[in-house]
Amino acid sequence: MDRQPTVAPHVVFLPFPAQGHVKPMFMLAKLLCHVGGFQATFVNTEHNHALLQRTLAAGDLPAGFTFLSLPDAVPHDREQQQSSISTVRELFNSIRNSKPDFRRLVAELSPTCIIADGIMSLGFDVAVELGIPVIAFRTFSAVCAWVYFHLRDLIEQRVVPIPADADMDQPITSIPGLEGILRRRDLPSICRHGTPPPILNFFLRETESMRRASGLILNTFDGLEGPLISRLSTIFPKIFPVGPLHGLLSNVVKEEEPLTASNGGLKEEDRSCMTWLDSQPSRSVIFVSFGSLVALTEAQFVEFWHGLVNSGKPFLWVVRSDSVLGEDEVPSSVEVLSGLKSGAARDGSRCCVVDWAPQVEVLAHEAVGGFLTHSGWNSTVESVLAGVSMACWPRLSDQQVNSRAVSDVWRIGLDMKDTWDRSTVEKTVRELMEGRRDEIMKSTIEMAGMARGSVEEGGSSYHNLEKLIVYIRSMC
Ligand code: UDX
Repeated sequence: MDRQPTVAPHVVFLPFPAQGHVKPMFMLAKLLCHVGGFQATFVNTEHNHALLQRTLAAGDLPAGFTFLSLPDAVPHDREQQQSSISTVRELFNSIRNSKPDFRRLVAELSPTCIIADGIMSLGFDVAVELGIPVIAFRTFSAVCAWVYFHLRDLIEQRVVPIPADADMDQPITSIPGLEGILRRRDLPSICRHGTPPPILNFFLRETESMRRASGLILNTFDGLEGPLISRLSTIFPKIFPVGPLHGLLSNVVKEEEPLTASNGGLKEEDRSCMTWLDSQPSRSVIFVSFGSLVALTEAQFVEFWHGLVNSGKPFLWVVRSDSVLGEDEVPSSVEVLSGLKSGAARDGSRCCVVDWAPQVEVLAHEAVGGFLTHSGWNSTVESVLAGVSMACWPRLSDQQVNSRAVSDVWRIGLDMKDTWDRSTVEKTVRELMEGRRDEIMKSTIEMAGMARGSVEEGGSSYHNLEKLIVYIRSMC
């Protein structure tokens, strides 16, 4: 790849201020600096900026990479993002008033282009106002991005909002390319009864707003989502599927940077679980993590605990301090039940619990044989690249769509959507790790091979990164 541009393009990156958005945007910014020799200005909210600085390791940033931050409404003593409804609202509120600051910042920098998150329409507004090119980066799967572009139709057809008493297994027939795949229960969570109209309107507005971008970047790859990527290219003729981004990044910078680089993580990782994993037999462990936002009720937490214990499999569970709804901390009844207070398990123990794991490394560990996940898109592509099959328990937003694709399109996992009783958890883990293991692992291994191929030199995502670099350079 040509690393010697005559004029270094300058890109301003604007992520949505949540972990699952900051991380892939950060990796993309690093890639454009490393490979394209670009200058990158990464614009975080003040709160996330402070969190990110704590996790950055020496040598984590390539030449040309700088940070700027926007004021936000998150209290300064807030240790981490929490998952209560009020905090999800806070996330939206924290960006609501940022437009004048972002406008000022962009006017001063006068960059070559802006790469804005697909739900940060203020980035598109400012770009259009100042006459600066803008590219959208949607951190979702292509399949989910496509579904969002059909939300308005679904509302007009009165399919959405889904009534409280609806048959959730009824097929959705009106989204081209997804006939026979999605049921009502597989639509994004915001389609369900009870979603406040302002939230539904927010996603409708943000999705429409993305059409102003001159191109679309996705953290996916042709082998996984080719048909949906083609459909999206009818909306965005310039489309750049560059995933899995963490694989591309580790390929491109492998001599310069170890796998342990935080790459946009907002929380400090507890690495003690890696030692525990070393003591477990090959492919025996089920890794349990529900991302950065999903929280469980205490009843759900207890059912998962029993299901995992009853499965007889060793498990590594990420239990964030805000993992249980309505509680500031994991409630003491749950701590007592699970012995969580003991923290990371001793060698030989059948479970290990940490507050935050080095997830990419965990998935790559020889001892891990399955992933019980909320089907966040980053977690999904990380699992795909690592060749680990998934048991899916989706909760929010895009996760319902992703888990359906995992189980019924790619056949690399099982979907236990909307169920969480202990016997279903136990049965699903056993099926994934024993009963249907061979069948599911066969497609998982094939897909992992395609993922690796896509990020190698000459692979589709590698090639798309080159195309993106050429495209941005052409704006200079
Ligand atoms: C959310 C949505 O769920 C997701 O679908 C959307 O695309 C982005 O916003 P989140 O719920 O946090 O993100 O899930 P996910 O997309 O899976 O991102 C979580 C990230 O945190 C992953 O990159 C994962 O590796 C990392 N993580 C998670 C850790 O590093 N350690 C952990 O212990 C848990």
